[in-house]
Amino acid sequence: MALMKADAYGHGALGIASALPDADAFGVAYLGEAVQLREAGVRAPIVLLEGAMAIDELAYAAALDLAVVIHQHEQLQWLKNSSLSRPLTIWLKVDTGMHRLGIAPSEAASVLAELECLQRAPDPKVREVVVMSHLACADLPDHPMTAQQLKAFQEVTRGVGGQRSIANSAGLLLGDDFGFDWVRPGIMLYGGSPRNDRSAEQLGLRAVMKLVAPIIAIRTVAAGESVGYGASWVAERDTRVGIVAVGYGDGYPRHVRAGACVLLHGCECLLLGRVSMDMLAIDLSAVNAQLGDEVELWGPSLPVERVANWAGTINYELFCQITGRVRREYLP
Ligand SMILES: Cc1ncc(COP(=O)(O)O)c(C=O)c1O
Repeated sequence: MALMKADAYGHGALGIASALPDADAFGVAYLGEAVQLREAGVRAPIVLLEGAMAIDELAYAAALDLAVVIHQHEQLQWLKNSSLSRPLTIWLKVDTGMHRLGIAPSEAASVLAELECLQRAPDPKVREVVVMSHLACADLPDHPMTAQQLKAFQEVTRGVGGQRSIANSAGLLLGDDFGFDWVRPGIMLYGGSPRNDRSAEQLGLRAVMKLVAPIIAIRTVAAGESVGYGASWVAERDTRVGIVAVGYGDGYPRHVRAGACVLLHGCECLLLGRVSMDMLAIDLSAVNAQLGDEVELWGPSLPVERVANWAGTINYELFCQITGRVRREYLP
């Protein structure tokens, strides 16, 4: 299952859907995300990972031929009380330890029995059932919770027919025990590392997104003068400064620490002063730059994980923060 929620982790759901014609399913969080894909003509199976948020969403889900997660009893009640145009594939989410979503393992057998009744009824509401869970700490390979969750999942699904799924990207890297019938990678599909202790390159992942912006002004700032809001950076010597047309209004993080840089003609250029909404300033001392030159903010040559580190966040957040005004071009 290719995870496509949050506009395909900021990459643009429609562009990514057409780039992944072989995905067995797409995973989204909210109904609106599924509607967007269906309206654009995406016919692949789609799983609504947070399930219905109100009873009428189940009828929409059936009309759009979506599979839905059931993670709490109210959703099962809604299913029983709903009137559907076709039976739904249900992903039953069991809480094996993350304690965010999911029914308790002790309740799984009875809920599965109820789902089976709905499947066997003369007017069936259920087409098939997949049992799933989600790992809380798979990005920390030695964390004891991962083994506990796997054990709980194996116990809960023992003897239960049907398909099973537990692995996100980090889980997928933990080996075959976590594979089951479906894996659900998100960040690694986009070339992001799911682990702090391994770079994307070490994991053999290639960046899908390259965020670039042009230099729109070049000036020399005299020693003692400052650049940008708050005059927070003051030139120690006369410095050639480039102004790049990207800022927090595009999703570049406002709070990056000193030492953050961008890439220009293969050279790392330091950011100077504060990031503003539409612009940021860079040090051009070491590079021969022209107006219009393209600066890489992150991408194949400057891993997003480095920028995330300078910003005190994670690659996921940087991807998701890319705003609507950023023009996306999809290369064949
Ligand atoms: C239920 C579920 N499965 C899979 C994923 C994919 O996670 P990742 O992007 O870490 O691979 C997510 C994302 O948070 C998720 O919520």
